[in-house]
Parts: sequence; structure tokens; C-alpha cells
Amino acid sequence: MLTQLRLLLLEDAPADEIERRLPPDELEALYAWHGKKEGAAEAFLSLDEYDEKASALLYRPGRRAASGRRGKFIVLEGLDGAGKTTHIELLRKRLLSDGRSVYATAEPTASATGGLIRDALSGLHPRAASELAALFLCDRIQHNINPKNGIKGFLEAGTDVICDRYYYSSLAYQGIDSDIGWVAQMNLGCPDICTPDACIFLDLSVEKCVERMAKERVTAEIFETEEIIRRVKRRFADTFRMCNDNENIFIVNADREKEKVSAEIYDIVKGIK
Ligand code: TMP
Repeated sequence: MLTQLRLLLLEDAPADEIERRLPPDELEALYAWHGKKEGAAEAFLSLDEYDEKASALLYRPGRRAASGRRGKFIVLEGLDGAGKTTHIELLRKRLLSDGRSVYATAEPTASATGGLIRDALSGLHPRAASELAALFLCDRIQHNINPKNGIKGFLEAGTDVICDRYYYSSLAYQGIDSDIGWVAQMNLGCPDICTPDACIFLDLSVEKCVERMAKERVTAEIFETEEIIRRVKRRFADTFRMCNDNENIFIVNADREKEKVSAEIYDIVKGIK
């Protein structure tokens, strides 16, 4: 389970704001970790790698709901340009070489609804945020239950599913211009939408995401501006606050060598029983 400190770091909150907004027990723990009050949050912000003691400030032991499924359902999330495609492929290969059966998939899907979504994202057919939220919901339901290559079928057959984006993206992206509570209710309350065993968020600064996108993309989609990405990142923090009690959410520092990031993702997935 993520601590409030981890969520504030995700929001890129400055040190003084962290000290102001942290609950008293976490603030005490932060001071104890640093050995003194002065500059404790600042010292934490400047750390790239966390030792065991520091990582206890970021995560609390969480519960895993018994899913009754045989395959593991892993979602990778992140801002545009955070490296999801690369890390999904690396994870897929590692799980395959462990002898597991793996299905990698993505949202929006290639369904007819996915096509409507792509037209909206490219700006060809503009849609209101609520319309987009509904289209993503419809696409996600299909993605779960369609009999040919639905997520539920794979999990029940013992295949691991790795999904590039899921309902967390709906809450974060549609939640900036529509009501996040409404988007959450539709998605989290839908009986045909499976809860993942883990959501792994690749955390990269807004500046780095924008830089990577400028290098990699030929055309920009509607959410690919620095201002929107900044708002989406804060919405991801709100999203994880909402899901934190009932789900396994991990935030991985993606601003490191590819091998280190990939090893951490693999360890998280191996840890899911
Ligand atoms: P991607 O294929 O590059 O990840 O792009 C998908 C875009 O769709 C990305 O900008 C995030 C956005 N998106 C939403 O707005 N809501 C959603 O529910 C999902 C899955 C994606």
C-alpha cells in the first residue's frame, strides 16, 4: 500500500508542502529516518535510490484480494512517454522464459469502440470528456469479457495478462475534465471489469516525458501537451489515493537505467502469489 509520502512525491510536491500535508505519524517517521527535523523532506526528495529503511516510508504492507483466478493480471501505467511499451515487452519476455504463458494487451483496444476512441484522441472527431469516459468503459468491458481474447478468459485459463493502461488512466485522464468520482464509480463498480493483481506506475518527471515524446512521436494526440500531462500526473495521485486501500499499487522510479527498472518490475510481479 502506498504511503501519503509516496503519493505526494508522485505529485511532485515541494518539500515544504510535503511537511504540511503529511499525516502526523508519517511526519514523525520521516523525521526519525532523517535523524532530525530540519530538511528531512528535502533530503528525501534528493534521494534517487531508497534503502530498506527509506522504502518503509513509501510502502506499507498491503492486502491482496483473493481473486480466484489462475493467471496474474498486471497493469502498467504511466504518463505518455514513460516507457510502458519497452517495459511490457521486457516483462513479457522474462515471464515467458520462466515458462509462464503470457498475453500482452493494451487499451484502447483494436475493437470498433477502440477505433472511435482513436478518432477522438487524434482530434479527428472531438468528444466531451464524459463521452470519452463512456467509450473507454465500453471498450474495457469488451476487453474483459469478449469470448475470443478477453482478459477474463485468459486469466481463468492460467495465462498471465499484462495490460498497457487500464481504468487508472480513465480516472486520471478523463478525471481532469469530467467528474473523477463518477468515472471511478463506473469503472470500479462494474462487475465485468476485473481488478488487477498489481498496478505498476512508471514514474517519470513531466519534463522527461515531454522530451521523450518530442523525440518519438510524429503527430501529437490531444493529451500530449505539457500542461495536460502535469494535470494528469496529479490526477494519477488522486486515483491511487482512491484505490489504495483495496488494490496493490506500486510506483517505480522510471528515471533509471532500463535494466534496473525492468528488474524492479519483475521482482514486483514475482512477489505476487
Ligand atoms: P497510448 O496508446 O499512447 O498509451 O495512448 C493512449 C491515450 O489514451 C493516452 O493519452 C491515454 C489515453 N487514455 C485515456 O484517456 N483514458 C483511458 O482510459 C485510457 C486507457 C487511455
